[in-house]
Amino acid sequence: MGRTKNSKPNHIAIIMDGNGRWAQEHGFPRAVGHKTGVERVREIVRASLDREIPILTLYAFSQENWKRPAEEISVLMRLLDYFLEEEAKTLVEQGVKLRILGHPEALPAPIYEKLKKVVSATSGNSRLLLNIALNYGSRSEILGAIYAIVEKAKNEPSFVTGPESLTEEKFASFLDTQGLPDPDLLIRTSGEMRLSNFLLWQLSYAEIYITKKYWPDFTADEYALAIAEYQMRDRRFGDVLV
Ligand code: FPP
Repeated sequence: MGRTKNSKPNHIAIIMDGNGRWAQEHGFPRAVGHKTGVERVREIVRASLDREIPILTLYAFSQENWKRPAEEISVLMRLLDYFLEEEAKTLVEQGVKLRILGHPEALPAPIYEKLKKVVSATSGNSRLLLNIALNYGSRSEILGAIYAIVEKAKNEPSFVTGPESLTEEKFASFLDTQGLPDPDLLIRTSGEMRLSNFLLWQLSYAEIYITKKYWPDFTADEYALAIAEYQMRDRRFGDVLV
């Protein structure tokens, strides 16, 4: 293998895809795919801690996922509930800080309450920031930011005085990822070549790594391969290679 070109990524975002196909190929109900997917979530959180990755962002439930059959939505909600119940203590002990992107307030009330509890219990942690996108959609996040900026400008006209005064930094401060650096690496499992309404603004310069592995097969070793490939990429940010 050649010389490493980048240091380890500071922020990794993951589209966890393929739970259903994994289950189907193994002759299991889809729920088993999602359950195994949660095991991989635990493994990848641990691997991020081991590798000292400071920020991990997982796409767990999109706004579009409400279109799935009620039974499957309820499985996903139960698994999230179980994850919060089982992992809260471990997350605190591991030094993980939980943050939620999207609109968690629309999730079933007991889950929303649990989320708030875990977010608050882990708020003092700083080893790993774990962002979980729940009821998240990037277009609606961007529209929400525009709406908030328009409202602010109405009350405080000096806030936006012309196109130049609305800088990228100022705009980004209205997104759910406010205060966070953009992801350096986007991983998508199961071979699909699309962004699925995930972090459209924030992924502008991310390196994209797509693996055919389904999420339930995405182990810490697979994660290591993705990070190693990232470290070999040329990142130019629109500039030329020097
Ligand atoms: C994609 O597989 C996966 C999801 C829609 C949900 C991801 C959720 C988890 C891994 C579990 C809950 C998460 C946490 C953080 C506890 P798919 O169903 O779209 O698979 P398919 O495309 O093969 O049908």
